[in-house]
Amino acid sequence: MMEWFEDESFWECIFPFAFPPERIEAAGGEVDRLLAMTGFEGRDVLDLCCGPGRHSVELARRGYRVTGVDRSSFLLGKAQSLAAAEKVALEWVRCDMREFVRPAAYDLAINMFTSFGYFDDPADDLRVLDNLHRSIRDGGRLVIDVVGKEQLARIFQPTTTVEAADGGLLVQRHEIADDWSRVRNEWIVIRNERATSFRFHHTLYSARELKDRVIDAGFRDVQAFGDLDGHAYGPGSERLIVVAVR
Ligand SMILES: C[S@@+](CC[C@H](N)C(=O)[O-])C[C@H]1O[C@@H](n2cnc3c(N)ncnc32)[C@H](O)[C@@H]1O
Repeated sequence: MMEWFEDESFWECIFPFAFPPERIEAAGGEVDRLLAMTGFEGRDVLDLCCGPGRHSVELARRGYRVTGVDRSSFLLGKAQSLAAAEKVALEWVRCDMREFVRPAAYDLAINMFTSFGYFDDPADDLRVLDNLHRSIRDGGRLVIDVVGKEQLARIFQPTTTVEAADGGLLVQRHEIADDWSRVRNEWIVIRNERATSFRFHHTLYSARELKDRVIDAGFRDVQAFGDLDGHAYGPGSERLIVVAVR
């Protein structure tokens, strides 16, 4: 059976909500901050689950040699268009994050905007971390950016609604499952008087839980932050950012 993230129509339908022009434009500032935060040295960067390539392209614009990996050919198409518009060359690979390994090839690997924890089997998340550990050179850096469990507990609402610039309406329904280890979502997109519903779910990590998995994968100096400016992960944090050294 197809897993939810394999459904290209999901990414196509939610694109205007998940990746509006402001979010694509925000990537420049995010890249500046994450480079300053990691203090990494080197030039080879892996953007795992690169989506429409907003961080990959910004990194390439700054002269880094970038590989953007994603499973969605629709989103990789968007990434290629963005790179062409910005006149930068980089490598795009269509691959599942459970499969992508390139031994000791990268100085920095990033996994941004809640692209971790998608699998039903927790061993698959560990496999992704193991792949990253194998793909990053000694002394290289890893950055994972997700919604933290503590943050979600603070802001949780069962139903939310968002309007996209294209006039579409997104109704999101959320349910906490499996003793706060998973969140199940239903996104209903209403466009041209037609409603399309998608269900998806992912694992919720607390800072401690995510750090422990990253440590188990063999990384050191594993730290949790609440934003890309390096502020501590605290009660008001909007993101959970884990930074580690290979
Ligand atoms: C929320 S988006 C984030 C995209 C990008 N990192 C960003 O910040 O804009 C999640 C991405 O993960 C990708 N993805 C989902 N499951 C995947 C898998 N099993 N292997 C590789 N990529 C996957 C999706 O195609 C999508 O591009």
